[in-house]
Amino acid sequence: MCGIVGYIGEKPASPFLIEGLTKLEYRGYDSAGIAVYNDGNIRIEKSVGRLSSLVEKIDGEPLKGCLGIGHTRWATHGRPSDLNAHPHTDCSGDFVVVHNGIIENYLSLKEELIEKGHQFHSETDTEVVAHLLEDVYDGDFEEAVYSVLSRIEGSYSLVFMSKKHPDVLICAKKENPLVVGLGDGENFIASDIPAIINKTRRTFILGDGEIAIVKRDSVAIKNRRGVPIEKKVFTVNWNAEAAEKGGYEHFMLKEIHEQPKAVKDTMRERIKKDGSGVLLGELGWTSKFLGSFNKVYIVACGTAYHAGLVGKFYIEKLARILVEVDVASEFRYRNPIVDKNTLVIVVSQSGETSDTLAALKESKRLGAKTLALTNVVGSSIAREADQVLYTWAGPEIAVASTKAYTTQLILFFMLALYMAEIKNTLQPARVKELISLLKKVPAQISETLTDVEPIKTFAKRYGFNEDVFYIGRSLDYDVALEGSLKLKEVSYIHAEAYASGELKHGTLALIVEGVPVIALATQKSVYEKTLSNIKEVKARDAVVIGIAAEGDEELSKYADHVIHVPETDELLIPLLTVVPLQLLAYYAAITRGCDVDKPRNLAKSVTVE
Ligand code: F6R
Repeated sequence: MCGIVGYIGEKPASPFLIEGLTKLEYRGYDSAGIAVYNDGNIRIEKSVGRLSSLVEKIDGEPLKGCLGIGHTRWATHGRPSDLNAHPHTDCSGDFVVVHNGIIENYLSLKEELIEKGHQFHSETDTEVVAHLLEDVYDGDFEEAVYSVLSRIEGSYSLVFMSKKHPDVLICAKKENPLVVGLGDGENFIASDIPAIINKTRRTFILGDGEIAIVKRDSVAIKNRRGVPIEKKVFTVNWNAEAAEKGGYEHFMLKEIHEQPKAVKDTMRERIKKDGSGVLLGELGWTSKFLGSFNKVYIVACGTAYHAGLVGKFYIEKLARILVEVDVASEFRYRNPIVDKNTLVIVVSQSGETSDTLAALKESKRLGAKTLALTNVVGSSIAREADQVLYTWAGPEIAVASTKAYTTQLILFFMLALYMAEIKNTLQPARVKELISLLKKVPAQISETLTDVEPIKTFAKRYGFNEDVFYIGRSLDYDVALEGSLKLKEVSYIHAEAYASGELKHGTLALIVEGVPVIALATQKSVYEKTLSNIKEVKARDAVVIGIAAEGDEELSKYADHVIHVPETDELLIPLLTVVPLQLLAYYAAITRGCDVDKPRNLAKSVTVE
C-alpha cells in the first residue's frame, strides 16, 4: 500500500510532491523518494525512513522543474532501503516509474531482461517495469506503456515519466487506487485523495484497466488498447479527515471493507497456476526441513493470538502435526518445552509487539526454528525470525485489528496446505477443492459486506446491554473469541466468549432474560450439539443472534435473528463469520458514541511489556 503523487504544470513540482506525500504520511511507510525533470535531466532523491529524512536530504539543494513524481513505500518485494525506495529507472535513466501493488511475473520478466543485458539495482518487482519500458520503447511513449501493461501481471497503480517526453505523465490502474486531480494549467496524480485535496476537488477516479495521459492542459482517459473513454469529473466534497479515511467514517470501517482486497493480495503469487497446491517458495527452508518438526508452537498477542488458534486447527487438521498455542506474555515465562525439533510461529501485525518479540528471542535461545507471520516488512519481528511470511494487508491504522486477522487466517490456511503436501496427509483432489474454495473467499467477503443494515439494527437494539455472550464450538469458538474481543475493545461492552459445551459448567448462571447471545453455528460435525446449547440459553430467555451458513434453515427455528454468510467449506468459514462480528462491534461502538479508531487505554502497537 504505497503512496503515489505526480505533478505537471507551470509551478515547481517538488513542493507539491513533498506536500502530497506528507498528506499520505498517516498510512505509515518505510521510505520515500521523488523524481523531477529539469532541462533535459531527471534528478532523483530517495531516502529510507521518515519523509523528514528525504526533506533534509533535498533541503540544501531543492529539485528544480515543473514535472515530477513521488512515492512513499510500504515494502513488499525487497526490504526498506534507499536502493529499494521508488522512483525506479531503466538502465539509461530515460524512464522513471513509481508503483503501488505487486508485479506477479516480475521474476520471469527480470530474467528475460537480464539476458538482454539490462542491469538491475534494486530487489523490487517495480524496477522491472522501468526496464521493460526501455526495452519496448520505439519512439512512442504511450505505445510503449500499453506494451508494458500487456506484459505485466498482478496489481498496480503506476505512474510513468520520461525525459524524452517532458510534456506528459502517463498513469495506469489495476486493483490499486489512482486519482487524477484537475487543475488550471496544471494537473495532479495521486494514489489517494488526501494528497491533492488542498489543490483541487475536481478529479477523475480511475477504474481498473484505465490509463490517463496527463498533460499540463489536458487529461485523456483511455483503455489498455488506447481507445478513449468518456469519464465524468468527480467532485470531492470530503474534508481532509474524511479523505484520509477514503470517505468512510472511521479507519476501522474502511479496513473492514478492505478485507476482500487484503485477502486477495495475501493469496497472490502463492497458489499454483493449476490450483493443485500452494507456493511458499519465499520460505528459505527445504520441504524436508519443514517436514521434520514434530511440534509447532504458535505464539502471539490479542487478535493475532486468536488467529493462531485458528492456525492450530488448520495445521492439526490438514497436516496432522501437534500444535500448541500460547499468548506471548505467558509463553516467555513458562519455561516452554521447545527444542530444535520445534517450529515456533510468531504472529504479529505490527511486527513490533514487545512480548511477541521476546517470545521469539526466547524460542531462538532454546534452539527452536522460528517463523514470523507479520504485516510489516523490515519490522523487528521480521528481522529477528529465521523465516518470514508476510500478510499483504497494507497499513492497518485503526487500533482494532480487522484485516490483519483475516489475512493471518489466509496465511495459516496456506501454510497448513503446504505442510499437508509435505506430510502427504491430504488427497490431491481435496487440496484442489480447498484451493478453489479459497479463491472464492475475497468475493464472498465482499458479499458479506453488502447488507449491513440488519447488523446496524442489532447494534442499535442491543448496543446498550451491559453484557454480551458469544458461543460456538470448534472453529466457531475461535471466531467467537475474536468477535468478543472486538466488541469489548471498541464499544466497552462486557463481552465473553465460551465454548458452547462449557456453558453448563458455570456460565449458564449468567444467562438471564434479555441477555444477548451471539451463537455461531457453522461447523457441521458439531452442529446438533451447538443447537442443543442454543436451546439451553433460549430456555433461559436469552436473545439469540445466530450466525450460520447460507442454506441453513434450521437455526432460525431456535434463534431470534439469524445472519447468514455465504456457504463454503467449514474450514474457511471463519473468514466470513468474523466479518459480521467486526461490523457488530463497530456499529455498537457508534451507537454508544465511542472513539472507534482510538479506544480508551489501548495503543496500536504495544512495545512495552
Ligand atoms: C485487537 C488488537 C490487539 C493486537 C495485539 C497484537 O484488535 O489489535 O489485540 O492484535 O496487540 O498486535 P500485533 O499483531 O501487532 O502483534
